[in-house]
Amino acid sequence: MKCLITGGAGFIGHHLANQLVELGHHVRVIDDLSAGDPSLLDSRVLFTRGDVRDQPKLWTLLHDIDCVYHLAAKVSLPQSVLYPRDYNDTNVGGTVILMEAMRAVGIKRIVMASSGTIYGDQKRQPVDETVVPELLTPYAVSKFAAEHYIFTLGVHYGIETVALRIFNAYGPGQALPPAYPPVGPHFIHQILNGGTIVVFGSGQQTRDYVYIDDVVNALTVAGERHGIDRQVINIGSGIETSVEGLVQTIAQAANGEPHVLYNEEQSGGVRRLVADIEKAQDLLAYEPKVSLRLGLEYTMNLDTRFQLIRSAKTHASS
Ligand SMILES: NC(=O)c1ccc[n+]([C@@H]2O[C@H](COP(=O)([O-])OP(=O)(O)OC[C@H]3O[C@@H](n4cnc5c(N)ncnc54)[C@H](O)[C@@H]3O)[C@@H](O)[C@H]2O)c1
Repeated sequence: MKCLITGGAGFIGHHLANQLVELGHHVRVIDDLSAGDPSLLDSRVLFTRGDVRDQPKLWTLLHDIDCVYHLAAKVSLPQSVLYPRDYNDTNVGGTVILMEAMRAVGIKRIVMASSGTIYGDQKRQPVDETVVPELLTPYAVSKFAAEHYIFTLGVHYGIETVALRIFNAYGPGQALPPAYPPVGPHFIHQILNGGTIVVFGSGQQTRDYVYIDDVVNALTVAGERHGIDRQVINIGSGIETSVEGLVQTIAQAANGEPHVLYNEEQSGGVRRLVADIEKAQDLLAYEPKVSLRLGLEYTMNLDTRFQLIRSAKTHASS
């Protein structure tokens, strides 16, 4: 299979690209490097620096492609509240431009990385795909709009379309920006360094943490499986973990002591969020294989940033 991955130098994208070339597929990546790191890509991946809204570049890169994985997006929920226009331009506009380019070149399949965050605060958990989304941030709005654009345009243009609603993916190589870092790598970094973790809200809020290999397997299958046109499919672990539970599991895996401060004045986001993964099991034969504890150990062992902290500590204590 020949694939193009937009946003393929990012966290999920580089894992997907490397796995696809390992499986013998031909992989092209377009990424503007606003967040990605091309040095994480296998040398067999053909990398092009560029914006997903650059149609002429897309026409060239789409030539002969069997499946597009559309991952290019701005991904911070709080930042999307500050810069909604940018989120709309990239996440919605980028998707529409990509679909137009696919129509022009005659590409017949797209798998889009959507997000579990579009469900918002739901009483009934786990959430399945029939639940009416509660769009609480511009990021959620942009992902939901992008889903609708691929489905609607897909019908008009004869393109098969699938959206995977990914929950909280974590694993090695996830970016750690100074502002609004994702909790997984941020908490690992703090615990390994003996730093303080600030938990917003009560710490009882729950999320569904899914290891990157399970996400990549779901994306890989979705790229090849037929009969899933216009489907939205949840991809999570199906297991609900509180923020406090996450901190404790990281501390056990790291053999460290967490220093936790609670800031109850600032919201910790929705109270509960966990994926019902039955549809993924039915349509993609999806079975998450990596437990949270194991996934955190893999993350610490495989991510060079965490290896460095650990070896510096071992060095200091010997
Ligand atoms: N990580 C998660 O837990 C999670 C959960 C749900 C959905 N998703 C979705 O999965 C996709 C990948 O997320 P990620 O966690 O790897 O984030 P990421 O920020 O690591 O990856 C996104 C990539 O898109 C690139 N990009 C941004 N704007 C671009 C543009 N205009 N043109 C080309 N490239 C551009 C960035 O440089 C980055 O490499 C996103 O669409 C995100 O919404 C991620």
